[in-house]
Amino acid sequence: GTMKRGCDHIFFVGFLGAGKSTLARNLGVLFNRRYVDTDRLVERRRGLSVSRIFELEGEQAFRQLETEALGSLACDRSLLVSCGGGIVETPCNIELINQMGYCVYLDGDIDDSLRQIRRRDTRPDFRSDEHAARLLEHRRPLYQQAADFTVDIRGKSFKEVTYLCA
Ligand code: S3P
Repeated sequence: GTMKRGCDHIFFVGFLGAGKSTLARNLGVLFNRRYVDTDRLVERRRGLSVSRIFELEGEQAFRQLETEALGSLACDRSLLVSCGGGIVETPCNIELINQMGYCVYLDGDIDDSLRQIRRRDTRPDFRSDEHAARLLEHRRPLYQQAADFTVDIRGKSFKEVTYLCA
């Protein structure tokens, strides 16, 4: 396709536990492209883990850092970018993503996400399954708005999703 603002990144969005990072990493290895994760960029900028930032400074501070991290990619070339699950909560991030490249939404099942979430560190913003389910319903149209393509990942293995996106 045509280049957007001199950038041709590929962004992956989707709910927590959708496998964005693993997929971006797999595709990076397959296509010899650099892979970044917005959560890791934020952690590097702030010198704190995501969960510590939430704990000490709150979600708003985290979202600010997330937007800065995203903006910092404007000068790089051809990255695969795994985005934090809440990146679409900040309206200007959707614009940034659309300006900087193409976006793939990994649309998964809430139960699969909940299983993944339970395996990770508890985070202040994911107190209960009900809360997570509501959050996904709220975000789904935002993910769709950000995305150029949606991939239905329900019931698919990492390998299947990797080759679907490749
Ligand atoms: C968040 C998802 C996390 C991380 C932060 C907030 C969210 O990213 O950015 O904990 O609000 O959904 P992953 O989806 O990469 O786990």
